[in-house]
Amino acid sequence: MECCTGRAVASIDSPELQANVPAHLRDAQNRWFALTVRARTIMYNTRKVKPEELSTYEALGDPKWKHRLCLRSSSHIYNQSLLATMIKRHGEDKVESMVRGWVANNPTLINSDTRILESIAAGECDVGLTNTYYLGRVLAKDPNFPVAPFWANQHTTGTHVNVSSAGVTAHAKHRANAIKLIEFLSRPEAQQLFVNTNFEYPANPHTPVHPILATWGTFKQDDINVASAGEFQAAAIKLADRAGYK
Ligand SMILES: [Fe+2]
Repeated sequence: MECCTGRAVASIDSPELQANVPAHLRDAQNRWFALTVRARTIMYNTRKVKPEELSTYEALGDPKWKHRLCLRSSSHIYNQSLLATMIKRHGEDKVESMVRGWVANNPTLINSDTRILESIAAGECDVGLTNTYYLGRVLAKDPNFPVAPFWANQHTTGTHVNVSSAGVTAHAKHRANAIKLIEFLSRPEAQQLFVNTNFEYPANPHTPVHPILATWGTFKQDDINVASAGEFQAAAIKLADRAGYK
């Protein structure tokens, strides 16, 4: 049911879904609604970095992080989405100078969020960017894993989030029942089942989060509509290329 482009799914008229899923986490034309949310934020080695040293995605370009930063390759959609939503908000020039700052710090490029976390824990780098649920998974097995999330951009635009969402295909045979299922999945009782198994955040803010995630505190999400990640993906890829971010 994961979807994104919204091309093959038809608009859903459901007051319940509109109430349960915040506006930035659903399609403006109501073709898809987020069910779970993953934050993509700064991860740091708790033995080597103090949270006071961290602030924003942009500040990872500060020379103090030279040779200390691990990033996912730009060919992967996760950082493409981060750049795309930032382009939507700030325009290309500002985002390109951020990426040039990252590149100037000689980041270690690793094409796996889990391996980025392992590299941070092993001290091969001190900070990185990953999705939160990867850390949740690791901490469930090893509560002493020395990595913690820092909520990026809390004094500015909020932490970047991405979603898994659901829609109903334009030619669905059982449209009414499909909508009922999505409505059910958006209620706190069903949301809780999701978030307790995959360490994601619930799309419905009235759902308690997993106890491991609760220890990370609450954070302000970037409330730009997640659809902008698709809208500006091509621009993000070109921008990364121009800035020398492989
Ligand atoms: Fe993932």
